[in-house]
Amino acid sequence: MKILHFDSLESTNKYCELLDPQSLEEFTVVCAHKQTAGKGQRGNTWFSEPYKNLTFSVILNPTFIAAADQYNLTMCLALAVAETIDLYCGKKRAQIKWPNDIYVDGKKICGILTSSSISNGYLSQSICGIGLNVNQTIFPDWIPNPTSIKLLTNKDTDTNKVLESFLSNLQRLYLVTKNDAEAIKKSYLGRLYRLDKTARYKYIGKEIEATIRGIDQFGHLRLEHNGKEIVCALKEVMFL
Ligand code: BTN
Repeated sequence: MKILHFDSLESTNKYCELLDPQSLEEFTVVCAHKQTAGKGQRGNTWFSEPYKNLTFSVILNPTFIAAADQYNLTMCLALAVAETIDLYCGKKRAQIKWPNDIYVDGKKICGILTSSSISNGYLSQSICGIGLNVNQTIFPDWIPNPTSIKLLTNKDTDTNKVLESFLSNLQRLYLVTKNDAEAIKKSYLGRLYRLDKTARYKYIGKEIEATIRGIDQFGHLRLEHNGKEIVCALKEVMFL
């Protein structure tokens, strides 16, 4: 496994996107101490204090995952991060806020941004970008609800050790995804934030009270509202 370390990059995801896919071995990691234009979900920027956290991308070739099942990869990555955080944060179990934010104590500790190319109905290459808050303790006001390993443990943690733990969890869970995707789904649901809890959501512009009941085969969120099931895609629902 190759780990390429950079002091500064615009974005580790972008760096990987610009490389020739053939030149990259599976599990190659591109890691930067500092990103000048880190990318987040929904076109947001990812802010991370330089030298304090982990910002990296892993290249995968999940050719065993059909395009229709790409949520299996989302679950695998989220679980690999959640299990890694558990190793460093003691009793506080990491949860997964659908689809793939990692939360501890109701606060976001990690975000994941994956882009995949598809060939003949299967995934061919995925660039899996991970921003994990490790030693940062002060966050700008505009970041909603952040936390970090240090805020949770009051200790500094070696970012390289966290990266190593993550990669070994990922290698193990990637094999499980290949051989037993149902087991991955079960573990994912076991960590799903607000599962079976009633809370407020904005669904297609309207505030509703609903209960998460799980996900469907495509990874859409299943909400129960007034005794009926609503199946939501990412852009249709917001957690309030
Ligand atoms: C989110 O918005 O929750 C996803 C954040 C993903 C951030 C990571 S940091 C490393 C990689 N490179 C990027 O530009 N983004 C991802």
